Amino acid sequence: MDAAHPIGIFDSGYGGLTVFKSIAALLPQYDYVYLGDNGRAPYGNRSFETVHQYTLECVEWFFKMGCPLVILACNTASAKALRTIQQADLPRIAPDRRVLGVIRPTAEIIGSYTKTGAIGVLGTKGTIASGSYDIEIHKFFPEARVHQLACPMWVPLIEYGEYKSAGADFFVQQYLDQLLTAAPDIDTILLACTHYPLLIDKIKKYLPPGINVVAQGDIVAGSLADYLQRHTEIDAKLTKQGRMSFYTTDDTTDFDNHATVFFGQKIASQFVHLDAAG
Ligand code: DGL
Repeated sequence: MDAAHPIGIFDSGYGGLTVFKSIAALLPQYDYVYLGDNGRAPYGNRSFETVHQYTLECVEWFFKMGCPLVILACNTASAKALRTIQQADLPRIAPDRRVLGVIRPTAEIIGSYTKTGAIGVLGTKGTIASGSYDIEIHKFFPEARVHQLACPMWVPLIEYGEYKSAGADFFVQQYLDQLLTAAPDIDTILLACTHYPLLIDKIKKYLPPGINVVAQGDIVAGSLADYLQRHTEIDAKLTKQGRMSFYTTDDTTDFDNHATVFFGQKIASQFVHLDAAG
């Protein structure tokens, strides 16, 4: 990708492809590089220090690939690494580059979807334990009642291709029952993990009517479009030839097979060894 200055899209694995799909549909003119750190996924149960270290290594790789802007399309990385990267790492390693996450743009809007004021937030153990959604949503919607629940079985079900199986129904129903028993007035449920949109049909099946299930892709894409309009200095640096390339830190065949499901089209990824790239 000579002289390309793409937008970097990062995820611990495949999940960010659901966000990338929305971004590429809304903003097809830009060049993009996607990196899934599949070799070290899942991030969901890892410590702050580890998620920060892994995410920063990936961000530095994006910078070497010429990206002026990187989107952490992963809730766990956004919750556990973004703030440190923005506040401590970027001023030191790349003050003219930008790294954005998925939590703030989602928090800015999700409160406007609820009529009862009660919002359910479903995510990985790491995202939920960080409390990030609770904190961020209250900045924009102080009256909102945010009920969070970790759904640790959902990512493995999806990664092992079991998300359409009868076994998945059990775990979908189990977490939704738990959430709605704790807060029966919830009318808006946010899928705060980039994998969960693959379970959306099953999730809707086990919810009473009238509950709105929200995936993040379109929200993040809209927010990025708005950001690029407001930050013309970043937009001017980005190349716009509609090119896309995909990288993974693990097996490319596995990645390509999963990517077809998450991204909705066939792709051919390349392997990247982060140490060698660093
Ligand atoms: N993509 C991650 C997220 O949005 C979930 C997968 C993982 O645990 O690595 O939180």
